[in-house]
Amino acid sequence: MGKSMEGNAQRHRQHREAEASVMSCLFLLLTLLMRSVAPVTGFSNGKVSVACEDMVPQHGYQPRPDPPPYNITVDKSTFSPGDNITVSLQVASIKPTFFKGFLMEARDAGTLDSSAVGFFMLTDPHESRLLQCGHTQGSGVSHRSSTKKTCIKAVWKSPQEPPLSVQFLATVVHEYKVYWVRIPGPVVSLRGGGTAAPFTDSPSLTTSSSAPPTLFTSVGCGHSKTCLRDPVGCHPDSDPHCFFLSFTTDEAGQSVMFELSGPAEGYVSAALSLDKWMGNDDVYLCVNDGGRVTISAAHVSGRTHPELATQDNLWGQSWRLADGVIQCRFHRNIILSNRFTLNQSYYLFMANGSSHHSLIHRHDYQPLISTNQQLITGPPVDLTGSRSPLLIKFHGVLMLTAWMWTVSTAVIIARHYKYFWLHTTLLGKRPWFQFHRTMMVLAVVLTCVAFSLPFIYRRGWSKRAGVHAYIGCTVMALSVIQPIMATLRPVPDSPRRIIFSWLHLGAGSVTHILAMVCVFLGVAQQALLLPSPWSPAVLTGWVLWIMFTDLLLLIHTYTLRNTGNDDNDDKEHMLCPHTERGQQREIPQLKNVVFIVFMIGNTGFLSAFIKAIASL
Ligand SMILES: *[C@@H]1O[C@H](CO)[C@@H](O)[C@H](O)[C@H]1NC(C)=O
Ligand SMILES: *[C@@H]1O[C@H](CO)[C@@H](O)[C@H](O)[C@H]1NC(C)=O
Ligand SMILES: *[C@@H]1O[C@H](CO)[C@@H](O)[C@H](O)[C@H]1NC(C)=O
Ligand SMILES: *[C@@H]1O[C@H](CO)[C@@H](O)[C@H](O)[C@H]1NC(C)=O
Repeated sequence: MGKSMEGNAQRHRQHREAEASVMSCLFLLLTLLMRSVAPVTGFSNGKVSVACEDMVPQHGYQPRPDPPPYNITVDKSTFSPGDNITVSLQVASIKPTFFKGFLMEARDAGTLDSSAVGFFMLTDPHESRLLQCGHTQGSGVSHRSSTKKTCIKAVWKSPQEPPLSVQFLATVVHEYKVYWVRIPGPVVSLRGGGTAAPFTDSPSLTTSSSAPPTLFTSVGCGHSKTCLRDPVGCHPDSDPHCFFLSFTTDEAGQSVMFELSGPAEGYVSAALSLDKWMGNDDVYLCVNDGGRVTISAAHVSGRTHPELATQDNLWGQSWRLADGVIQCRFHRNIILSNRFTLNQSYYLFMANGSSHHSLIHRHDYQPLISTNQQLITGPPVDLTGSRSPLLIKFHGVLMLTAWMWTVSTAVIIARHYKYFWLHTTLLGKRPWFQFHRTMMVLAVVLTCVAFSLPFIYRRGWSKRAGVHAYIGCTVMALSVIQPIMATLRPVPDSPRRIIFSWLHLGAGSVTHILAMVCVFLGVAQQALLLPSPWSPAVLTGWVLWIMFTDLLLLIHTYTLRNTGNDDNDDKEHMLCPHTERGQQREIPQLKNVVFIVFMIGNTGFLSAFIKAIASL
């Protein structure tokens, strides 16, 4: 080592230091200039605005990698538009230390690389000064001089249209060569944005959901990116109930960016699957982890809990969390050794659910599954999907046809129209009997087919169907017993005929009532997501419709009987409110009209449900 070399190095160092102090003077000068010129000219360039953006001091040294001896604190964790938050930057180490310079900003916590939001008001004007970062005067705050400081405070004022969550960041200069860049400070969130907060201040809800510029948007769905949305065509930027998944391949064809968002207390997830069943799927999870979102990849091998990948290889992650909506964005390479390759076609799943201490619980809401497979790296498509499996939809339609339409018609015929078409026969039997028998047999056949579908879909018994499944099995058993019993019935004149009649009526009524209960429970099943107040309301309407028709026909019969000479103890009387005598005085036009109107109404109720199920 020659002396000259040492001298060289020293000269070099001196040179660097001189250069550095010139630059810091320049920085100071610019800051000073800024204050006086800003109102007139604004800032078109200068080192200060550069520092504003990346928050790196132009000192030419590496920022310190170790944890900083400083921390940032706030006096509130939530805010409303226009609120003040006092932010402090202070020494937070046991060893006494200080800082000479700093730059503090507030940024959208979802995209920390965006520009500063809101503006500051000074509380120590001797130590601090305001900067204009981006378009807002005062959106940054920095030191006024290089005195040694241990604490600095400023009041941050939220903009009128704030992002859903804001994080404070600070670059702190201890000495010229010793500084920490972008020390992460606390995240504060817009009030009304948290799931626990009551939605009393809906104005902030509206402003927050229009917060630019990083909210996911449906613009470009089907043109520049592939999207899967639920409800169809919803807008994730304005509709808090919108489930949204989109993906785009980068220009180099190396990676895919995914965006996933949806309402959830705990997590939203997306999965790639080769089939429409859960199991052997490539899963991506965005979990609300106490106010932050953790983005991770997992694999589901069966109908079990996903196993988190030890190495998820997801990069470029960002997220936001507000109004009960989780939004997350991440990138992954098309080819990854431990994950599904993206140059293939998959069905896409989207689910949400609750989580506890970042452990996710099973989705209680049926996942949305794309109707078709989609090549992830393929041309953009606006996909559609459904939360209700086709087999379950058929189960619903067939059961409703059987019980809403067929059985209730057959019961009304047996109760009120026994003696109605008395003077005609149909294939050698009385018409009411032919109708009743044909319709009931049809209902049993429909029930049998419909009954087997959920078992095929679930590949076994579903614990999640709850009471619906148990009552359903009882109804199925009784439905099979009824026709068997009817085939074995004694001849009409037999003394045991009355026992049969009572049994048939009793079992039939019990089955009918249980089936109605079952239908009510069925329309509330999550596997067939019928609109909630609508379906029980329409079902109630249908039950009232049947009761009303029945009552009307009963009144009709009894009115006739009371006007007539009434003394008979026809054994059929107990079972059916008709008597031969009453029948003779009936007004056939009236009964015809009632029957036709009843059928029209019943058909209307059934079609409303079929239409609703078809549109799921
Ligand atoms: C915020 O602070 C400013 C200045 O101290 C004050 O004028 C304003 O009323 C405060 N706003 C709120 C919402 O407290
Ligand atoms: C920040 O530092 C202060 C002072 O050491 C300490 O009281 C406070 O708990 C720290 N806050 C955080 C969030 O670390
Ligand atoms: C999942 O989404 C549905 C539909 O928006 C919602 O009703 C439900 O509460 C969500 N589940 C959780 C656990 O957040
Ligand atoms: C996907 O890409 C890999 C690597 O480029 C290639 O070997 C494979 O054949 C591709 N698969 C499809 C389905 O295009």
